[in-house]
Amino acid sequence: MPAAGGFDKGNGKGYPGKLTPFVTVTCIVAAMGGLIFGYDIGISGGVTSMPSFLKRFFPSVYRKQQANSSTNQYCQYNSETLTLFTSSLYLAALLSSLVASSVTRKFGRKKSMLFGGVLFFAGALINGFAQGVWMLIVGRLLLGFGIGFANQSYRGALNIGFQLSITIGILIANVLNYFFAKIKGGWGWRLSLGGAMVPALIITIGSLVLPDTPNSMIERGQRDEAREKLRKIRGVNDVDEEFNDLVAASEASKQVEHPWGNLLKRKYRPHLTMAILIPFFQQLTGINVIMFYAPVLFNTIGFGNDASLMSAVITGLVNACATLVSIYGVDKWGRRSLFLEGGTQMLICQAIVAACIGAKFGVDGNPGELPKWYAVVVVLFICLYVAAFAWSWGPLGWLVPSEIFPLEIRSAAQSVNVSVNMAFTFVVAQIFLNMLCHLKFGLFIFFAFFVLVMSIFIFFFLPETNGIPIEEMGQVWKNHWFWSRYVGEDDFVSNGGVELQKGSNAINNV
Ligand code: BGC
Repeated sequence: MPAAGGFDKGNGKGYPGKLTPFVTVTCIVAAMGGLIFGYDIGISGGVTSMPSFLKRFFPSVYRKQQANSSTNQYCQYNSETLTLFTSSLYLAALLSSLVASSVTRKFGRKKSMLFGGVLFFAGALINGFAQGVWMLIVGRLLLGFGIGFANQSYRGALNIGFQLSITIGILIANVLNYFFAKIKGGWGWRLSLGGAMVPALIITIGSLVLPDTPNSMIERGQRDEAREKLRKIRGVNDVDEEFNDLVAASEASKQVEHPWGNLLKRKYRPHLTMAILIPFFQQLTGINVIMFYAPVLFNTIGFGNDASLMSAVITGLVNACATLVSIYGVDKWGRRSLFLEGGTQMLICQAIVAACIGAKFGVDGNPGELPKWYAVVVVLFICLYVAAFAWSWGPLGWLVPSEIFPLEIRSAAQSVNVSVNMAFTFVVAQIFLNMLCHLKFGLFIFFAFFVLVMSIFIFFFLPETNGIPIEEMGQVWKNHWFWSRYVGEDDFVSNGGVELQKGSNAINNV
């Protein structure tokens, strides 16, 4: 996990070093950022399927659910306040991602993470003790604000390590929901929502006990102290090479004056396109329909409460395991083949799920008795769909952008990437239940259509980035059948580019 202080320099050059306590703690704290994000993704759907939670906060949805057999199942959960409970977090995350990097630059990473940790803690606390819907929403907003700041612990390197911790967070949430729902007295949802306090505390305490990074010391002109710190962190004396790279990185990043202006230059058209379309498409796979609403969806298609929560545990498990497949294969098989295989598999599964739901529920949403084999087939194809996402668009949606943005545009391009992601996560969370009510089983066809479009896009427009050092990416765009129109012979040739990149990798490492 180079994102969290690993040793791999990303360009084949390794620095000497041992796994010191500093590195271990940094990894744990950084992983918590992804974990809490995943936890919040997974937790809301489970609690919304718990009758005691619905009865208390969303009585009209509860009544519909109770009267369910005779009504239209597709519309059972169609409530805007209910979706706002899930989606508000992403709106807040969108806003905070926009400001977090400037706050971090000004106050340092330690303070930024501390701030994130405290926001998380407050959000989880308010949610755990919620007395009314407004407390639920305020809590989710605070959690969302925390996301932008806590993710600073990953800096520019939102990569597969980040994705793995997200999936583990989702899985933990699903497992806890399953058990907490069984608590007699129906207050288990308080534990589910309040559970986010645990990773929040780890981030808060971690940011207090972790010393400042050598990188931020260099940025503040304390070079001798920075060198000493680096020796301690790495546990070896010979840190000159890495230290010099860090200094070069810091100088290089100071030279980048207008990352936003740079991003609009013609030669960065491919980068800008990817920064917008990759996260857009990632969300339009429809994955969060499953991640947010799996228990609700399973409930809608006729599973009991317990079976719905168990099915969410199963999809969560598949999600985490399939991410490991990606970690294993991403350099072996390349990004493009994973994208294209994943896209094809998702498309087939979505078509089958649409057909299954359509066959039983039709357009009036009234299925009658559902046979057991039916449940097994639906869960199976949803799992195959989740697996496909988890080894393609899930991790690659973060990894590929981090591989193609040179330092000159990196901070701006990553902001665009994260913001577009959060914006469409919000949109999907907010309108899914309404779309389900109106499009019925056709909703799965809707997402399948986008999966087809994005696979065609990858096929024609995304060059392979596997194993290509970023200083050579310019050549890749230049040779591309389409992007060569925007990237001219004279673009990306300066030596400065090499220096900049050298620096940018070092930046990500400490
Ligand atoms: C996406 C999330 C999604 C998660 C599922 C991430 O890459 O950005 O929106 O919930 O994958 O594992």
